[in-house]
Amino acid sequence: MKKLIAANWKMNKTVDDAISTIKELKVLLKDHQEADVLICPPYTSLMAAGSEMKGSIIKLGAQNMHHEESGAFTGEISALMLKNASCEYVLIGHSERREFFNEDNEFLNKKMHAALKHGLKPILCIGETLDQRQKNETEDVLETQLLACLRDVTEIEKVTIAYEPVWAISRGNTNTKPATKNDAEAAHLFIREILKGIYDEAKAKKVRILYGGSMKPENAKELLEMPNINGGLVGNASLSAKSFFEIIKSAR
Ligand code: PGA
Repeated sequence: MKKLIAANWKMNKTVDDAISTIKELKVLLKDHQEADVLICPPYTSLMAAGSEMKGSIIKLGAQNMHHEESGAFTGEISALMLKNASCEYVLIGHSERREFFNEDNEFLNKKMHAALKHGLKPILCIGETLDQRQKNETEDVLETQLLACLRDVTEIEKVTIAYEPVWAISRGNTNTKPATKNDAEAAHLFIREILKGIYDEAKAKKVRILYGGSMKPENAKELLEMPNINGGLVGNASLSAKSFFEIIKSAR
């Protein structure tokens, strides 16, 4: 399975910054096809980033969306609008959305359905907090999040899962440690087992499960070599074209 290396720029970069990073990355990526590459910039840069990516292997995604198509939802953006702005992917349920914007599994399930309805490929983010891990609740949390967010979702072949242990997400602090490759692999394997239960073995095998949380050039290779880690969702280390490119190269 070809790996997917996705950049989550969060609330970073003006339009000009986004364009210059993409320009730099395009030069670095010339002659490189080892992984699928995705960038999720802030909404304001989607259109410009999309045009800059044209003709390259870089794909465009959004960081969030609302489940309604249109209406009185001040400040929100719909799947229809994202599709029309050339997005192929959309992140759903990032832990920062869950924590700071109170998005719960039921609400995220509506977004999953709306994304798929409009032909977007959702990347569903799941993961446990430090407190949940310390209480040995990791598997329960992952199972609950998967079952609720994927409720009545049939097109699993269009879905990507991102396992992002909340305690490993850097939030700009470069000293944060990722999960060990064995802990990450165990979680990914567990996620695949749950997918087998909801769908079937053949379908579950084809779902890309990305790891996210302090992935950087120094640790990407060992994580990406694990059998059930099919790519990465990269925050901080994706802001620089050079370090993001180093991670992409580790995905051979
Ligand atoms: P990080 O963020 O790579 O900075 O830890 C990952 C994410 O939140 O998606």
